[in-house]
Amino acid sequence: MDDNESSSAWNTGQSAQEQGLEYVLDAYHVALGDRPSLCPDKADVPLIDLGGLWKDPARRSAVVKDIAKACCRFGFFQIVNHGICQTVMDEALHAASSFFDLPTQEKMKYMSNDVHKPVRYATSLKDGIDKTQFWRVFLKHYAHPLERWMGQWPENPPHYREKMGKFCAQARKVTVDLMEAIMEGLGLGPLYLTSKMEAGMQVMAVNCYPPCPNPEMALGQPPHYDHTCLTIVLQSSPGLQIMDPVDCTWKSVPKIPGALQVHVGDHLEALSNGLYKSVVHRAVLNSERTRFSIASLELVGAQGKKYRGSSFRDFLNFLATQDIGEGRSFISTLKINQ
Ligand code: OGA
Ligand code: NI
Repeated sequence: MDDNESSSAWNTGQSAQEQGLEYVLDAYHVALGDRPSLCPDKADVPLIDLGGLWKDPARRSAVVKDIAKACCRFGFFQIVNHGICQTVMDEALHAASSFFDLPTQEKMKYMSNDVHKPVRYATSLKDGIDKTQFWRVFLKHYAHPLERWMGQWPENPPHYREKMGKFCAQARKVTVDLMEAIMEGLGLGPLYLTSKMEAGMQVMAVNCYPPCPNPEMALGQPPHYDHTCLTIVLQSSPGLQIMDPVDCTWKSVPKIPGALQVHVGDHLEALSNGLYKSVVHRAVLNSERTRFSIASLELVGAQGKKYRGSSFRDFLNFLATQDIGEGRSFISTLKINQ
């Protein structure tokens, strides 16, 4: 049993965000300097039309260059014409919202603070131990290979496995297409990582951010890097902010119908030997409606030269010793010659 299971006030199932409290408890107040601006400048992030990858070689090479530039400049971009149809995206978001609508008792079947569990429902990381709580509820589950994990996903709502499974498979295909283009842009040959990706992991973070009575005081997710190669995010409404690495200010990610968000993660930073930067991002709240997002986190066993190799387990062990609100990155622990 976890040490923190006795800290009842914060147990999943009873958190302020799940109960819809009409005020924000002190534990959720982020430090003054870290409070979010809810209408910052919009990030001028590239919107990349992936359709061009499958046209003539000149078009492909132009798209490959655009992706390379975006990975360098922001570590972030948006994509359209990615091949996932609107129905699949809408149904995955609907499956997510229906899961979070279930009675607490049903969701609690998956409740765990053990970060090694392949399926788990939780609120803030290490509930009751983090200095600051975050206004989020999430379900995380492994997704690749689908046949191996799907049987452990929630049985309810009854359509969850089918609808979420379709999105997971297609999101993974988009990641593979993108990684091929990224490897090509790095001069490594498009298939450089394909077999490693087949052997790699896909983890879904299905996030729910209920309306927050005082969204200027709290965050849905604190600033963090993703410990992935790439992360692809589907969101029901805006709320994602990224740190612009050039002027070091928070910028909101503009909403583009049908677009998905792509984050460069720590592993791609290592693989590109620091050329591409893992993007710092956070989720902000609103007082009107629940926001959902589905992040497809893709991991491969890649190693760079300036960074030692690491496994997903290393990362989980790192998380278990960190207060993620403090913003230290996992990648910083992997740098050789620090
Ligand atoms: C994540 C993440 C952003 C969002 O799950 O790692 O950064 O908008 N999500 O929910
Ligand atoms: Ni993230």
